[in-house]
Amino acid sequence: MAKATTHLKASASLSTQLIHHPYVAPSSFDSVAIGVHKASTVIFPNVAAMRSRTWQDKSAYTYGLHGTPTTFTLEERLATVEGGRYCILVPSGLAAIALVDLALLQTGDHVLIPENAYGPGKDFACVELEKWGVQCEFFDAQHPADLATRITPKTRLVWLEAPGSVTLEFPDLPALTQVVAKANEGRAALGAGRSIITALDNTWGAGVAFNPFDLGVDVSMQALTKYPSGGGDVLMGSVITRSPELHHEMLMTHMRLGLAVGANDVELVLRGLPSMALRYAHQDATTRALVHWASARDEFDMVFHPASPNSPGHAAWKRDCSGAACLFSVVFKSQFTTAQVDAFCDALQLFQLGYSWAGPISLVVPYGQSAFKHRAWAYEGSVVRFAVGLEGAGDLQADIEQALMAIAV
Ligand SMILES: Cc1ncc(COP(=O)(O)O)c(C=O)c1O
Repeated sequence: MAKATTHLKASASLSTQLIHHPYVAPSSFDSVAIGVHKASTVIFPNVAAMRSRTWQDKSAYTYGLHGTPTTFTLEERLATVEGGRYCILVPSGLAAIALVDLALLQTGDHVLIPENAYGPGKDFACVELEKWGVQCEFFDAQHPADLATRITPKTRLVWLEAPGSVTLEFPDLPALTQVVAKANEGRAALGAGRSIITALDNTWGAGVAFNPFDLGVDVSMQALTKYPSGGGDVLMGSVITRSPELHHEMLMTHMRLGLAVGANDVELVLRGLPSMALRYAHQDATTRALVHWASARDEFDMVFHPASPNSPGHAAWKRDCSGAACLFSVVFKSQFTTAQVDAFCDALQLFQLGYSWAGPISLVVPYGQSAFKHRAWAYEGSVVRFAVGLEGAGDLQADIEQALMAIAV
């Protein structure tokens, strides 16, 4: 509790009176809604409390950056959703990726990233971290043997993402984490070096489709911007682990970087969480209906979606997941020029042009052809990714159909 304000003199200025106006947080007001506690400053009753309180184990409050009852509640709920023990909040999904990198890597280290991972996360490692002497390399996450051959004595962090960001290949996560576990056993036997940590971008699974820790990962990050928020109006990220040591390492870096989140945004994510599994299932069902329909269309060479039997990694998805989210991508036949595919995207009326996904509005992004040329890529045509919202499946199908008609030759 703060110091008493009864000492306030009647002659105090208006500003002083307003700032020190007596306020006691209500203790007898019960509601299921989580209170939105806002603070940069947290008041201490005396110097002894100021000196003795510690925020690192959430036993006390010291400064807004170090947590409030509102942020602690969201952290605890997210850790529960993902099957982890500790959670850190950051201002965006990309900030969550950067936090994991900055906390766990140092000069001379080597980091491995799937070549089909979220582009800005790859750029963070290969542009920003390279400046600090961290070596960044890509691997083919569909082939655990490729990961095994790329691990070096300097490898400290292996990123995973399920599925790939645009082309949605689903990796065999247990096989990949096993490769890392084997490399760590080898290191331990030699008494050589720090162990390799696996970090998963779990934005797609959101803790709904599978439990990342049961599949062997050490750290799971999410863009809360997508499913947990669900509104398309918040940017936030989380970093979750079961390891107290890893959590402590990342928490200290988080504090030193000053990566605060706003209480109103935290409130919106807390509000989105109870409906997340329902939204996930609904968008999943609509997406599967569209994928089924699109797979029979002549315009596409390929429809990528993990629940689709000919999509790469389908068997691993089927074994490990109970859902398939809201994304699918198509590769147009090569007879469609880039201009025609752009015209298709422009002709869509319900699918809006915009980045992100898992909000109420369906979105579309044309990725072209060149973005995939650097890897073994069997297709010549343009790639378009759809993010399915909460509209009716029939309406969305009719929208894609009319846009295809608009570019029919
Ligand atoms: C798979 C994945 N990870 C991370 C991010 C980054 O999230 P944010 O936009 O909150 O930075 C995105 C955003 O699109 C994403 O799709």
